[in-house]
Amino acid sequence: MSTSVHVAELTHRFNKQAEPVLSDVNLRVDAGETLAIVGESGCGKSTLLHMIAGMVMPSTGTVSIGNEPVRAPNPRWNIMFQRAALYPWLSIVDNVALGLEFAGAGRERRHRAAAMLERVGLGDRVDARPQDLSGGQQQRVALARSLVVSPSVILLDEPFSALDTFTRSDLQAEVLSIVAEQGITLIQVTHDLDEAVIMGDRIAVMERAPGRIHSLIDNRMPPPRQPGRPGFAGMRDELLAAFGRARRNLSGADPSPVAASVAVNA
Ligand SMILES: Nc1ncnc2c1ncn2[C@@H]1O[C@H](COP(=O)(O)OP(=O)(O)O)[C@@H](O)[C@H]1O
Ligand SMILES: [Mg+2]
Repeated sequence: MSTSVHVAELTHRFNKQAEPVLSDVNLRVDAGETLAIVGESGCGKSTLLHMIAGMVMPSTGTVSIGNEPVRAPNPRWNIMFQRAALYPWLSIVDNVALGLEFAGAGRERRHRAAAMLERVGLGDRVDARPQDLSGGQQQRVALARSLVVSPSVILLDEPFSALDTFTRSDLQAEVLSIVAEQGITLIQVTHDLDEAVIMGDRIAVMERAPGRIHSLIDNRMPPPRQPGRPGFAGMRDELLAAFGRARRNLSGADPSPVAASVAVNA
């Protein structure tokens, strides 16, 4: 069952630093919606995601999932990191099944883990050890481990950034199909504008120092959102323009996307 995510008036300072890393972040993601978050490196994307996941408490403000305040990590709002972090002494099916064990699943967990590995293209490698897989395959295992617990909300932090183009494209499609099927609410951080257009029903563009949401863009392109399809390049241009304005901490009047993209690249 999917659930909404609500971030209200969130501000964060690490170790009582004077400058906040995040300031006045307000965000509402509807149940079953997909949101992509883009922003330049260091603007606080991971910190925001860790807070939504309950791993770091904000200095002020709140995160709620459904009507429940988030105060700790929970398999119902599961996060997947940039790096896989698998146990080398367990087979990959046992790595995936472990997530189910933590979530309280019964004996069928190995079967469910194998089915999810099949789904991410590793059905023939269930007994392999993580160290015998490529980096991309390890990311697939981590993805399977995050999704197998049927979370209401899945939080992905640049999960595909180290993968080759074809693998990335396959996994993007697989994630979208799994979240649509199970009604999971998806929040995915990415620094790749194409990926944001592919993954997000809406796209949040962050600015930095302090990190905050600069703009929220409705993705007007209907799925399947693939580069080269009509409408894709226009959405990407619009996003690039917003990204350029966010980098310069500008808001307000909207110059033409083409003019803005030229300015960004200048
Ligand atoms: N544990 C921490 N302690 C102090 N500063 C941190 C910590 N984690 C992240 N930061 C700082 O917060 C800022 C945002 O980091 P991060 O959320 O990782 O950005 P992004 O994911 O957008 O690249 C950076 O300046 C980073 O150095
Ligand atoms: Mg990050």
